[in-house]
Amino acid sequence: MTETHIVALGGSLLRPEEESGRVKWFADLRDLAAKLQQNGTRVGIVVGGGLPAREAITLAEPYVGDVHALDEIGIAATRLNATIIQQVLREPGLDVAGMIPLDCDHAASLLGEHNFVVMGGTTPGHTTDAVAVELAIKAGAGRCIIATNVSYVYDKDPRTNDDASPISHLTLAELGEICGLGKPRQAGASAVVDPVAVEWAIEANLAMCVLDGRVIGLLGAALEGRDFSGTNITV
Ligand code: UTP
Repeated sequence: MTETHIVALGGSLLRPEEESGRVKWFADLRDLAAKLQQNGTRVGIVVGGGLPAREAITLAEPYVGDVHALDEIGIAATRLNATIIQQVLREPGLDVAGMIPLDCDHAASLLGEHNFVVMGGTTPGHTTDAVAVELAIKAGAGRCIIATNVSYVYDKDPRTNDDASPISHLTLAELGEICGLGKPRQAGASAVVDPVAVEWAIEANLAMCVLDGRVIGLLGAALEGRDFSGTNITV
C-alpha cells in the first residue's frame, strides 16, 4: 500500500545562517526525496513563509491595518517558498506536482497522482502548521510531522527561560497547553506549534511530531518510521 506523509517545513529552514549549510540542506533534501520516491512513498510538503513573510508583513504593516490582509501577504510568501522547494525537487526529475495547490482538497487529490505535492498557506487566520494538519487529515496520513528550527518542544519558551527542558513525549492536550491553546493570541507571539494546528489535530485524533528540520537525517528517520530525536505527540 502507498504510504502518505505530510510535513510542515518551517520557512526558516530554507535560509540557514551559513551558505554551506544551505547547500548541504538542499542536497540532503533532494537525496531523501529520491529515496522516498524509490520506495513509492507520497509526501505532501507544506512550506512556511520564513524571512520573506516577515519582511513583507513588516513592509506593509504601517499601511495595512487589517490583520487578514497582512495574512494574505504572509500566504503569498509561503507560496514563494513552496515554489522554491517544488522547483528544487523537480530539477533532478522527481515526480513533483507541477502546480502549487491553493487548498488542501486540491493538494490531497494531487497526492493521488504524484509522489510529491508542495504547497504554502491557504486562508487567513492560521499558519502553515495548521494547513499541514488539515492536509494530513484529508490525505489520510497517520500523523503530521512539524519540521522546524528547534530540536524539541520545551516545557517553557527556551528563548526566555534558561531552565527550559526538552520533552520527548507529549499528548496533544499537553502540547495545546504549552502552545497557548484557548488563550487569546498575542500579536507577534510565536508558539513552537500553531495552537490552531493543535486544536484541529485534537478534533481529528491526529498524532504529530516535532523535529529539527535543519537535520534532514531526522526528517528521513521520521518518514521511514525509524526512531528519531524530537518530540512525539500522541492523541
Ligand atoms: P507561516 O506558516 O510561515 O507562519 O506563515 P509563522 O508561524 O509566521 O512561521 P514560522 O513557522 O515561525 O517560520 C507566515 C504567515 O502567513 C500567514 C500568517 O500571517 C502567518 O503568520 N498565513 C500562512 C495565513 O494567514 N494562512 C496560512 O494558511 C498560512
